[in-house]
Amino acid sequence: MSESLPTLNVAVLGAGTVGSQVIRILGEQANELAARAGARMKVTSVLVRDMAAPRDAQIDPAILTTDADQAIDGKDIVVELIGGIEPARTYVRRALDQGISVVTGNKALLAAHGPELYEAAAASGADLYYEAAVAGAVPVVYGLRESLAGDRITRVMGIVNGTTNFILDSMNTHKVSYEQALAEAQRLGFAEADPTADVEGHDAAAKCAILASLAFHTRVSIADVAVEGISAITAEDMAEAAANGHVIKLLAIAERRLTDDGTEGIAARVHPALIPTGNPLATVAGAFNAVVVEGEAAGRLMFYGQGAGGAPTASAVLSDLVAAAHHRAYGGHAPRESVYAHLPILDAGLTRTRYQMRLQVEDRLGVLADVAGIFSRHGVSIQAVSQHYDSEPGSAIVTIATHTAREADLRAVAQALGKSSAVRRVASTLRVEGE
Ligand code: NDP
Ligand code: HSE
Repeated sequence: MSESLPTLNVAVLGAGTVGSQVIRILGEQANELAARAGARMKVTSVLVRDMAAPRDAQIDPAILTTDADQAIDGKDIVVELIGGIEPARTYVRRALDQGISVVTGNKALLAAHGPELYEAAAASGADLYYEAAVAGAVPVVYGLRESLAGDRITRVMGIVNGTTNFILDSMNTHKVSYEQALAEAQRLGFAEADPTADVEGHDAAAKCAILASLAFHTRVSIADVAVEGISAITAEDMAEAAANGHVIKLLAIAERRLTDDGTEGIAARVHPALIPTGNPLATVAGAFNAVVVEGEAAGRLMFYGQGAGGAPTASAVLSDLVAAAHHRAYGGHAPRESVYAHLPILDAGLTRTRYQMRLQVEDRLGVLADVAGIFSRHGVSIQAVSQHYDSEPGSAIVTIATHTAREADLRAVAQALGKSSAVRRVASTLRVEGE
């Protein structure tokens, strides 16, 4: 039956972890995918950087090229799996400007240049799909863009970076070092080519920007997201979290908020946070991702699954490819960019949450009063204090949990503590979420 279907020419740009799996599944499941799309999808060019690099047997050497123009021009659909901003941006623009539909997994590109690409797609009538850009196999882009189009979203909070979740989970569960856990994540193909993007939170911030744009119908770029990575998290932080019934996760949070003067806006942030072990996000292990979406009508929904890796990510790419192929063959198009709400982006200092601070203090009379005074002077109310033995002579460890406070006030507290003669160092400051 599928012999009678139209055939579409597909270019795959990049044949690495994800691209090679897309090509493999397209070959192995050609008939089924054709039946679902109503069109056969034939890979007729594969763009790579190095022709001599070893490749999977499924990739026909005759269609490999390093010539981007030749790979892209005249195709029906381009699948961009190179990553990074340039030359990916130039190639995606080249395709969209010719009316060629694009499927991409490139969150860095979308979070920095999404509006330009959306506009190019709308101008030429091409589709722009990017399910794989957020949370790998987990259909959260579709969920926000289509399934929840009838609802008013108030908050999106999730674990959207597999590498950092793998690292934090390994450090917590298997007591391995940060370096060992990162090396294993790289070996398994989760980490970006430069893992700084993962561990410093930039990959999660790009995904946070994409989710916030979809959830709040407003342009949110990566520059609008306040970011903190996991590279400062220590074994002591892990142990203390566990002792208090918490785990540490790198969270991406985008929420609709009212400021004190009643202005409605969006706050978007990525940072490590303590979450209670009873929260469903605390059980997300390894490179898995999970995103909790709160809608006014739907209530709380959780999207969960494999957030990284070649085959899981290829699943998301292929679902987009099936949709784009169907439109190509029979008409229709992907949802266009929806930014009618134009909500302002709120200053990160206005964010309110609870905090837990660990301090190394002088072990002498009056220290706790000095420390408490600093919190009080900056309007941050203390919820609980505990003091522990420290192996360093003359010092003690004090852990302070706060009531809900403003980020700006907490920063001022940290600065004042850093200058106080009572405090040797602020060992860590972690936000508490999901209670
Ligand atoms: P890889 O680094 O494994 O593969 C990149 C591919 O692109 C390679 O085949 C490389 O060629 C090719 N390439 C790189 N630069 C150029 C260039 N300048 N010109 C031509 N070809 C080039 O990346 P991944 O497969 O891991 O990631 C691809 C995309 O998917 C990225 O946007 C990433 O963020 C996204 N993604 C990845 C996930 C994952 O788990 N890996 C999950 C979700 C999204 P060569 O082989 O010759 O070096
Ligand atoms: N490096 C990313 C991660 C890949 O670890 O989640 C998936 O986007």
